[in-house]
Amino acid sequence: VRVCAVVVAAGRGERFGALKQFLPLGDTTVAALSVTAARSVASDVILVVPEEYQGSGEGADRTVIGGATRSASVRNALATLSDVDVVVIHDAARPLATSELFHRVVAALVDDVAGAVPSLEMSDTVKRVDHSTPRRILETLDRTQLVTVQTPQAFRLSALQLAHAGHDDATDDAALLEARGALVVAVTGESTNIKITTPEDFALVSSLVEAAS
Ligand code: CTP
Ligand code: MG
Repeated sequence: VRVCAVVVAAGRGERFGALKQFLPLGDTTVAALSVTAARSVASDVILVVPEEYQGSGEGADRTVIGGATRSASVRNALATLSDVDVVVIHDAARPLATSELFHRVVAALVDDVAGAVPSLEMSDTVKRVDHSTPRRILETLDRTQLVTVQTPQAFRLSALQLAHAGHDDATDDAALLEARGALVVAVTGESTNIKITTPEDFALVSSLVEAAS
């Protein structure tokens, strides 16, 4: 099975206030750590970058220019693939995903499984709110059926291409397969696999990297 990894790093970092994916982390960068973890499972690693990116690829085999949305960035990379059976999509903004996690999602693609995503059970009580001020609580959800999901997400290339054929946008790739009724399974994720969204997340990730060195 030929496995390719796509590390998406073409976001604007609006909530962070900077291109968080290229910040220095330890003796490397956020995106380079993500690329290194992806390499453990993939013979070919593609980094999707913003148009104005001037770097040298963060250790990836090649770079592709991203699009206006995360889904569009993934599609730009998919358009360059051939002779690949399995694609692993990973957010550059999750530099602490381990190589074990990459292997776990790929290994879950057995029989009819089209996609596999890392997930965590929720320990907080989960409620639905409206957007008024103050926010009114509408209901409390049944937590036992809910999980949060992460990247890396592994897919059979053919299933992922079909899911993206409609050019829809979603916050992850699995959502596009689910919408078509494809079989996507959840494997155990990692609580340390933090997505850097805000400067507070980056501080936490930095302290974990520091503690491990
Ligand atoms: N991403 C991308 N192309 C886009 C948007 C996002 O490649 N057009 C990537 C980001 O670089 C990131 C991952 O998708 O690695 C997850 O996106 P997110 O955490 O939302 O990052 P940003 O979109 O950059 O942040 P924000 O939404 O705050 O602007
Ligand atoms: Mg975003």
